[in-house]
Amino acid sequence: ADSETDTVKHALTVATEAARAAGEPLRELHGQVESVDVKSNKSDIVTEADHQADRIITTAVGNEFPDHAIFSEESTRQTGEDADYLWVIDPLDGTGNFAHGNPNYSISVALIEDDEPVMGVVYVPETDELFTAIAGEGAWRDGDPIRTTDRERLDESMLISGYDPDGIFLSHFYQESRGVRRLGSAALNLCYLASGSADAIWEHDTHPWDIAAGLIIARAAGATITDESGAPFEFTLETDERRALLGSNGSLHPALLEHLEDGLTTPAK
Ligand code: IPD
Ligand code: CA
Ligand code: CA
Ligand code: CA
Repeated sequence: ADSETDTVKHALTVATEAARAAGEPLRELHGQVESVDVKSNKSDIVTEADHQADRIITTAVGNEFPDHAIFSEESTRQTGEDADYLWVIDPLDGTGNFAHGNPNYSISVALIEDDEPVMGVVYVPETDELFTAIAGEGAWRDGDPIRTTDRERLDESMLISGYDPDGIFLSHFYQESRGVRRLGSAALNLCYLASGSADAIWEHDTHPWDIAAGLIIARAAGATITDESGAPFEFTLETDERRALLGSNGSLHPALLEHLEDGLTTPAK
């Protein structure tokens, strides 16, 4: 194996250990959050647990890969602009759920090379599930390969919606599909698509750290990921731009795009 492959494999091991380690204090603090800090608005919150998880992961990565750059939602430690590898980390995805004692939250760790995610780990502390992927190799849950579903009919499909300010996806697709769920962790939503617990997902407003790991896990499991117009979703590190993401098992994608467009032009009643 060449040294690039070795770096990515080593990164997967380090990311897995760091995510599991960060999961421990999260499990302990879950259900007993007493105070939250409000960031940009009342729904944008952070807790001491986010910072603890952030410290554990960034320290582990920084110690093991001193010349890699790190970009986390809660802290940024850049190590020179010309680093070959960048780690994109969401130490706690689903802080709202976490702060309210809801178990749907996750830890997301991704490695980026040449602007593309090449390795992703999403760990779910409350279920002790570990989703992993390496670009071009595959995606796994707890070491077992995962694939998206092969459902072709929207009326037999289960969809997950992320934040949906206009209610288009939630209300419109509620009528077209078997069900729409709003769970609260974008990283985990992508893993549910990857492992066949959902047939499609819609995220209206994503940051790079929410989706970096989930994107590669979903793609490696066979998912089609586009923007709202159907163009392949382009991963970017820009944080000041809203990024919509439509993901599916592939066979549902044309129908989803068609209905999404209908939903955008004709509000569902
Ligand atoms: C949030 C979650 C949520 C999504 C929000 C994100 P955070 O991340 O992924 O599902 O709808 O847009 O900000 O703040 O809990 O890490
Ligand atoms: Ca946040
Ligand atoms: Ca997040
Ligand atoms: Ca977060």
